[in-house]
Order: sequence, then structure tokens, then C-alpha cells
Amino acid sequence: MAGPALKQLHSHRAIHEGGLSGAIGKTEMLIDFLQQGDEKNAGRAADDLIDYWKTRVISHADAEEEGFYLEIAAENPSLEKAVIQLTRDHDLMRFIVADIEELKEKEGISPAVLQKFYSLITVNELHSREEERLLFEQPAED
Ligand SMILES: [Fe+2]
Ligand SMILES: [Fe+2]
Repeated sequence: MAGPALKQLHSHRAIHEGGLSGAIGKTEMLIDFLQQGDEKNAGRAADDLIDYWKTRVISHADAEEEGFYLEIAAENPSLEKAVIQLTRDHDLMRFIVADIEELKEKEGISPAVLQKFYSLITVNELHSREEERLLFEQPAED
């Protein structure tokens, strides 16, 4: 069973908004350290940001796929396609996080790594918007 927070638009949206604003704040902190030339703290901030994406955002996606999405698709088969599309969005975020970890290992906090951190914010924002629209705001069809 999905937690009740995921099934209510209001509380689900609050999870999305909290996740996104935390990621934006941590990305800005990373940029500040880079601009100050503080490599040591920039490295810590980048690791913290990767961890944040995994524990706050990817773990939310995992929880949705393990319960909420299955229940929605079972209750309303017309939403099966939406669930597949939204799961692909989750996969894109997982791929980007994995790429960031691999690139950071090889190149440090390179421009490509920063570009991917920004792309995560964009994909996450669009995904949350679409999830709220497709799963909560569409009229149910029979
Ligand atoms: Fe999601
Ligand atoms: Fe969600």
C-alpha cells in the first residue's frame, strides 16, 4: 500500500515542492563554493547534492513505483500509459544521477557535471508537474 501522503494531491505536491527547493538551494550552495574558489567545500557540496537527489528524489520515485503507481494502474487502467511515461521520467533522473557520479569520478566538478545537475532540476520539475496533472487532475475515464 502506498503511504497516504502520495495519494493526496496536496501532500504529494508538498513533497515535490520540498524536494525541488532543497535541490535548488544545494545547487546554489555548490555554485557559491565554486565561485569562491573553495574546492574542498565544493567537493563536499557536490557529494551532498548527489546524496540528496538519491535519498529525497529517487527514493520518492522508488516508493511510487513500488506502490502508488501499481495501485493507480490497477484502479484505473486508463492511467497505465501515464504510469509508464512517468516511470521513464524517473529512469531519466536515475541515469543523470549515475552519469554525474561517473563523470565526477573522472573529471571532478567539471562544466559537464554542473550542466547535468541543472538538467536534473529541470527534468524533476517537469516530471512533478506532469505527475500531478496526469494522475490527479485528469478526469477519470471508464
Ligand atoms: Fe514521480
Ligand atoms: Fe511524486
